[in-house]
Amino acid sequence: MNVRPKVEKSYFFNKMKAVVYHKYGPPEVLQRVEIEKPVPKDNEILVKVHATSVTSGDVRLRSSDFPPLFWLPARLIFGLFKPKRKILGHEFAGVVETKGNKVTQFQIGDAVFGTTTLLREGAYSEYVCIPETWKNGVVARKPTNLNFNTAAVLPIGAMTALFLLEKSDVQSGQNILVYGASGSVGSYTVQIAKSMGLEVTAVCSGGNIEMVKSLGADDTVDYSQQDYSALDQKYDVVFDAVGKTTKQKAKKVLQPKGAFVSVKMLTKEKTTHLKHIKTLAEDQKIIPFIDRSFPLEDLVEAHRYVDSGRKKGNVVITVV
Ligand SMILES: NC(=O)c1ccc[n+]([C@@H]2O[C@H](COP(=O)([O-])OP(=O)(O)OC[C@H]3O[C@@H](n4cnc5c(N)ncnc54)[C@H](OP(=O)(O)O)[C@@H]3O)[C@@H](O)[C@H]2O)c1
Repeated sequence: MNVRPKVEKSYFFNKMKAVVYHKYGPPEVLQRVEIEKPVPKDNEILVKVHATSVTSGDVRLRSSDFPPLFWLPARLIFGLFKPKRKILGHEFAGVVETKGNKVTQFQIGDAVFGTTTLLREGAYSEYVCIPETWKNGVVARKPTNLNFNTAAVLPIGAMTALFLLEKSDVQSGQNILVYGASGSVGSYTVQIAKSMGLEVTAVCSGGNIEMVKSLGADDTVDYSQQDYSALDQKYDVVFDAVGKTTKQKAKKVLQPKGAFVSVKMLTKEKTTHLKHIKTLAEDQKIIPFIDRSFPLEDLVEAHRYVDSGRKKGNVVITVV
């Protein structure tokens, strides 16, 4: 007689699929595993992750590819010899499955989106614990008109765009040049700038001109054909959305009191910003641009793609 080994039912309920990395390196360091499902603390919600993304920050943390000046500080924060945090995945959208008894702002069943900034684990897993509020990251109810895939790619890129636009102090009616308009931050910057009543010139490669026009850019410059700093036009703001131009170069096309902002600057995630982005999405002022979508099982391939530096807008990872 064949006797099956008895497996505790709770074994299956306490486990989850996740993708972890134990050393810095190429996409292949990412490994699919089964690990303990996390249990929320009193101030945390347990989110069943429906979708996450591959941001340029995720690939940088995986490879530990930091500019020389930031290399040591970054290693001290994220792990000197190996990553302290084993699960990447900087942003997510999902559903609150359970909550700690001190949580007041969220209910079981709420659809939420947000970030995992400096939490003990990221969102490349079936479940993640998120504090209701914490110093570094943010969580809010998901825009009602967006599905989980689309909502998951909003927080990082759109909050960075909003933070830097506010920092530039740009006003309605002014003009802005967005350098690297086809990336995640760039594609949100173009849309948020238009919603603020700005005249937008988008700089990207020839193949992405139609994309940035579809996001609302009034004018475009193909950087492979023309150096933007040689344009006759002057701008109130130059927004470097890919960290590949300089203030010195931007000055050539800035108004005397114009501002230069860049993704290389420090930003801060704010709940007010995430809620504002939710409203902009619900008003259809911003529509996330999704380049490609991969299941969690194909995360290595998704990281390879983002490593190319050529993604347009965002890359989604579907978990459910
Ligand atoms: N400070 C922050 O809080 C913060 C937050 C998020 C991201 N970031 C940083 O912002 C940068 C951009 O991230 P992202 O995810 O938005 O971008 P991304 O999606 O990784 O950028 C890819 C895009 O950049 C364009 N690109 C590549 N080289 C270019 C060049 N020399 N000139 C102009 N465009 C170029 C590519 O378009 P083409 O094929 O047309 O060249 C591609 O569409 C990263 O360095 C990231 O670490 C900072």
